[in-house]
Amino acid sequence: MKYEGLLQTHKEFLPITEDTPMITLHEGNTPLIRADQLSKELNLNIYLKYEGLNPTGSFKDRGMVMAVAKAKEEGSQTIMCASTGNTSAAAAAYAARAGLNCIVIIPNNNIALGKLAQAIIYGAKVIAIEGNFDRALEIVREITAKHPITLVNSVNPYRIEGQKTAAFEVCEQLEKAPDVLAIPVGNAGNITAYWKGFKEYYDKGKSNSLPKMVGFEAEGSMAIVKGEPIKDPETIATAIRIGNPASWDGAVNAAKESEGQINFVTDDEILNAYKQLANKEGVFCEPASAASVAGVMKLHKQGYFSNDETVVCVLTGNGLKDPNNAIDSVKADPLVVNDSEEAVMEAISKLTN
Ligand code: F0G
Repeated sequence: MKYEGLLQTHKEFLPITEDTPMITLHEGNTPLIRADQLSKELNLNIYLKYEGLNPTGSFKDRGMVMAVAKAKEEGSQTIMCASTGNTSAAAAAYAARAGLNCIVIIPNNNIALGKLAQAIIYGAKVIAIEGNFDRALEIVREITAKHPITLVNSVNPYRIEGQKTAAFEVCEQLEKAPDVLAIPVGNAGNITAYWKGFKEYYDKGKSNSLPKMVGFEAEGSMAIVKGEPIKDPETIATAIRIGNPASWDGAVNAAKESEGQINFVTDDEILNAYKQLANKEGVFCEPASAASVAGVMKLHKQGYFSNDETVVCVLTGNGLKDPNNAIDSVKADPLVVNDSEEAVMEAISKLTN
């Protein structure tokens, strides 16, 4: 069947009117991949919702197509966001698609190279501040409140509407709701969106149960786990380097209503899961995304799961966004040799011994 994009496919669940421009880059419809090796090791049925295959390489495209369509419908000419990188890439791409201007504010030196490249090539006006994501979001909120510019961070409710469609896809792909949905938590919009999606699908009779929602912050940025904002959040997973999540209440509510939890993982746990996903499952995600799998490994050790439960881990972004982290984490540059068969054979035996 022809896939016509996220807005068209899910329009009965979305705030779409006759005047909404049905823009698309064919976002959504991402694969749910069974993690065979991990499933065997943990005695679970683990699936990876690989959001890195969206058009700009992250789940942000789902919310952005909706937010940009509504901005366009409302006659806005400029959109603006704060970002740790993926939101800015998505905003820039959809602004280009819809013919809008785009301004993005990023934390200087704290976004992955690929994401910066995206914002620039899609034609956004990129401003790096000497401050973190939380400060960038404060500034964006102040400016968009005073000027005719549409805020497209996930505090814009249309973002959540678009992002909830991933929960619908998970239910369709599994032909049921999972027992547990594991997800990285940064600004907390996505966990809020998934929970809304699962509830709406259940309420419409399209699924028979609801998953437990388990969200994972990075240890150095675990504001929700600690119960207070963190002034100087830190983590190798720059996408979720956030100390005062805007959708804090949404995350707490999702965990509470679903009888799940908000927990944390360390940078080492994140990098371990990140490497295992690539070299055991063939799935390359960015470090922040691996927080979902790292979290499942952690909970498994604590005896959280029953055998054979179905667990979906959301892999929020593509590994190619952050090539520096991949190379640094395995500490391996390619071996450089001269261009002879002997030299290559010698190198192969060196590498395989
Ligand atoms: N994973 C990735 C790859 C992300 O880029 C983000 C958020 C998250 C997880 C967390 O999702 O914020 O909804 O809890 N990135 C935002 C950005 C903050 O600016 O791109 P969340």
